[in-house]
Amino acid sequence: MTKAPLRIAVSGAAGQICYSLLFRIAAGDLFGADRPVALHLLDLPQAQNAVRGVVMELEDCAFPLLSDVAVTDDPNAAFRDVDAALLVGSRPRSKGMERRDLLSANAEIFKTQGAALDANAKREAKVLVVGNPANTNAFILAESAPNFPRDNIASMIRLDHNRAQGQLAAKAGVGVGEIEKLVVWGNHSPTMFADWTFATANGRPLNETISDEAWYRETLIPKVAQRGSAIIEARDASSAASAANAAIDHLRDWMLGSDGRWVSMGLSSIGAYGIPEGLYCGVPATCTAGSIERIEDLKIDEFQRRMIDRTVAELVEERDAVRALLA
Ligand code: NAD
Ligand code: LMR
Repeated sequence: MTKAPLRIAVSGAAGQICYSLLFRIAAGDLFGADRPVALHLLDLPQAQNAVRGVVMELEDCAFPLLSDVAVTDDPNAAFRDVDAALLVGSRPRSKGMERRDLLSANAEIFKTQGAALDANAKREAKVLVVGNPANTNAFILAESAPNFPRDNIASMIRLDHNRAQGQLAAKAGVGVGEIEKLVVWGNHSPTMFADWTFATANGRPLNETISDEAWYRETLIPKVAQRGSAIIEARDASSAASAANAAIDHLRDWMLGSDGRWVSMGLSSIGAYGIPEGLYCGVPATCTAGSIERIEDLKIDEFQRRMIDRTVAELVEERDAVRALLA
């Protein structure tokens, strides 16, 4: 028997990330080859024509799993009865900017969309915030949706996790799939902390396999943290296909399960690791069919403590900067 389609809202449908993301969702990369999907595409009024062009292309792919596509500029319509939402729509940064510089341009979007989510989405819908600054936008969204479960909102730090995984696998000379128990903590910003302390390659501690603490501290951590800027320098546009891929990885693992593998997710803090409650912060977790199990009992050493405290301090600053908007 054919399964019922999963309804997925995607904002920023005319933008560059969605030009990868939508086609991969429709091809079955998110929920598997036996699950039809219906897309609710949201973008601004002035982008509606461009979205219609994307819809024509989706039609021209003749995806067997794509059951329906609706296009709207109204977040209330976009979020009605959805099973999942990918909130991509917002301004990207350009050369010389940091992601937090986008706060004034993008914060209002997540306030409006939080209210629409609260009013329209199923309480069990899973919502991933991709638009930058993603952690604080997720915080704004959650604060603006008081009746929507906070734990069903996450911010994306999976791109950084994937970036670190790729760099570590190359350095260790192993396949990316062999790297496990990697964590990216904190803010999706230059203060993020790609942490190899618990990571293994083929079950062996990675810091023994690579055994180069200076490379870890002086090359790996800053390289992962600055990768977004390096891509903007090179492309004159921010990452798009890799961001779409990370969004699919994050939501697929969340909804279908991570098979015991650790993933990094921006989750609303419950106070573990000294992270103030309610901040959306990159932390380690595993997922089982729609539920998230936070990994909360890791022993943190002095270097990790310093790195986590630094990125959390930035999240606190960002949270305090949007207080007036939320008042
Ligand atoms: P883009 O400019 O190509 O597309 C953005 C789209 O969002 C546009 O079509 C625009 O019309 C739409 N939009 C703007 N305001 C909207 C609103 N209120 N409602 C609905 N749609 C709206 O940008 P992009 O390259 O697709 O990037 C989108 C966002 O994702 C940026 O903020 C970027 O910085 C962020 N990003 C995050 C990550 C991450 O790892 N978290 C990675 C890459 C990019
Ligand atoms: C990234 O990390 O590639 C994105 O957040 C885009 C950016 O602004 O760097």
